[in-house]
Amino acid sequence: MNDTDKQSFQNVLSLARGQVQEYLTKADDVVADVARSAPVGVSSRMGKLIQRKGKKIRSTILSLLACTGKELPDLDRVAHACAGIELLHLASLVHDDIIDETTMRRGERTAHMEWGNKIAVLIGDYILSQAMRCVINEKTREIPLVLSSAANNLIVGEISELDSTGDLNLSLAHYNEIIQGKTAALVDASARIGALLAGFDAKVVEECGKMGTHFGLAFQIIDDLLDYGIGAKDLDKAKFTDISNGLVTLPLIYYFESCPAEEKASMKELLSHAAENDIPEKICAKLESSNAFEKAKNCALEHVKAAIDISKKLPPSKNMDTLTAFFFSMSDRQN
Ligand code: FPP
Ligand code: MG
Repeated sequence: MNDTDKQSFQNVLSLARGQVQEYLTKADDVVADVARSAPVGVSSRMGKLIQRKGKKIRSTILSLLACTGKELPDLDRVAHACAGIELLHLASLVHDDIIDETTMRRGERTAHMEWGNKIAVLIGDYILSQAMRCVINEKTREIPLVLSSAANNLIVGEISELDSTGDLNLSLAHYNEIIQGKTAALVDASARIGALLAGFDAKVVEECGKMGTHFGLAFQIIDDLLDYGIGAKDLDKAKFTDISNGLVTLPLIYYFESCPAEEKASMKELLSHAAENDIPEKICAKLESSNAFEKAKNCALEHVKAAIDISKKLPPSKNMDTLTAFFFSMSDRQN
């Protein structure tokens, strides 16, 4: 594939979702049932959260892979697995927005802005527990294990990120460990569950997991660039959240790696005032002129390439081609 084959991320994602629409619609029904049957105090709040549609990247990857086996998988099993993945993702975002103190998510006020931190924590907890219930009756016992391990990894990744807050010496290895946990683990789980539902053997399931991991790492690195506004268009959340919260991501790691000592001191000073007017723009200008954004983008592209290389070695099918095209389009994700 070359650049002329590249279509926009949103277009390829729409195409991919279209190919597995039946599974995603049924998964929406499962999620809606969970919200409807929740007790008073949870039901309407959860209902409000699930109306705010996400991109469904993880459940699309799961469904595409689930449909690449010798036989088409059972609709209900795939739908419950997708619902589990999307609910786990939603629960983590509700908690993440409390931690990051963000006001906007999916173009709307965050849960804690609507109902306060105490209620939002508990709504997130309820959604997490329901995510696990979605796969409780799954006959492939590995599936609930993969989902609960993903939840553990997300939590550990987030704790590791918080423990590193304000650490301007954060290493590349540590950053990778954080994003592997907080983001890539759930894509890894989605791909693995899809592969398990397709009936693939352990070796292929493992490869699918690795492919998901590379995609997830690329996704988070691009997310971290979007937080600086790099490559962003119609972003449905606030910019500069990371630097305002003292989070060091890949562009800053590259910057600190190569800048002279006096530059380091001046950047540290700017970062300590990151929440003030015009300071984020000054930080961006320094990162831009040192090529830190470009280097971070290249790192994301390497992960995209690694995901594509794996997808090309997996059993060929129309869905696998779509998945490859989707990975390819990731490099231009704008929101
Ligand atoms: C978004 O990252 C957040 C995550 C990818 C994971 C958050 C995980 C937790 C809060 C712990 C797990 C919680 C549960 C309930 C299992 P970001 O802040 O970099 O991206 P953003 O800009 O979209 O907020
Ligand atoms: Mg956040």
